Amino acid sequence: MTDRYAVFGNPVAHSKSPRIHALFAAATGQDLRYEAILAPLDGFAEAVRRFAAEGGRGANVTVPFKEEAFRLATRLTPRARAAGAVNTLRFDGQAIVGDNTDGAGLVRDITGNLGCELRGRRVLLLGAGGAARGVILPLLDAAPAGLVIANRTEDKAARLADAFPGTTACGYTALAGRAFDIVINATSAGLVGAGLPLPDGIFAAGCLAYEMMYGRRTPFMTLAQAAGATTADGLGMLVEQAAESFLLWRGVRPQTDRVLAQLRAQ
Ligand code: ATR
Repeated sequence: MTDRYAVFGNPVAHSKSPRIHALFAAATGQDLRYEAILAPLDGFAEAVRRFAAEGGRGANVTVPFKEEAFRLATRLTPRARAAGAVNTLRFDGQAIVGDNTDGAGLVRDITGNLGCELRGRRVLLLGAGGAARGVILPLLDAAPAGLVIANRTEDKAARLADAFPGTTACGYTALAGRAFDIVINATSAGLVGAGLPLPDGIFAAGCLAYEMMYGRRTPFMTLAQAAGATTADGLGMLVEQAAESFLLWRGVRPQTDRVLAQLRAQ
């Protein structure tokens, strides 16, 4: 019988995950089916349990259910615990294993696809919401020289820095006079076309400016490019986090370069 997987979200029709996993399955010769399931806002847990009861083997979870998936899991990986959110579920008998592959996807995109070393580099993470929290542990594991978390609401950045030894926190104006080798935008400002009040000079020579969103050129990317930085959007992270989920489910790591190229070409 063909193994079933799904992505749960609301909305979910726009999700690229079914296409990505179909390409992975074809490339690795794995027999599986992957669909998008629209869960009601008040019915996520029930929808997941029904899917598992019907023979589903695992699932991805997207907005707005990642925190609820964290609570639903009966077992959590260390990186999911650190993220406080789950984007990947594996059904293992009665157990629901919760993992988070977002941060690993980001790190693989930066170091692998973009060829940018994280070890020993000065890294700035913009934002202190769920998207930022989800990537901190894998970024720290890559051994940067430092990881600064900057946010509009300084308190939220400070709380994150307290939770993750090895990081420091500040507001945007306190970034004046500092420079970074890698600047990652984990805010949702770009969603509404808003820019960030970043001081001049934060992009060091040869800086990589990484926008975690994809599908549009955000004001952050425009600003970074004007400052001489190399820019990247989050499409590579999307494909890499999917590959990491696929590995967790199937024990096989799919190659991502051709899938990423196909998505880019669309
Ligand atoms: P997500 O799960 O996408 O991280 P979130 O938890 O709502 O969503 O967090 C959104 C992040 O984007 C926050 O860091 C937020 O800053 P505040 O904590 O100060 O609200 C940031 N953000 C959103 N819009 C922004 C804007 N216009 N300017 C600066 N930061 C913004």
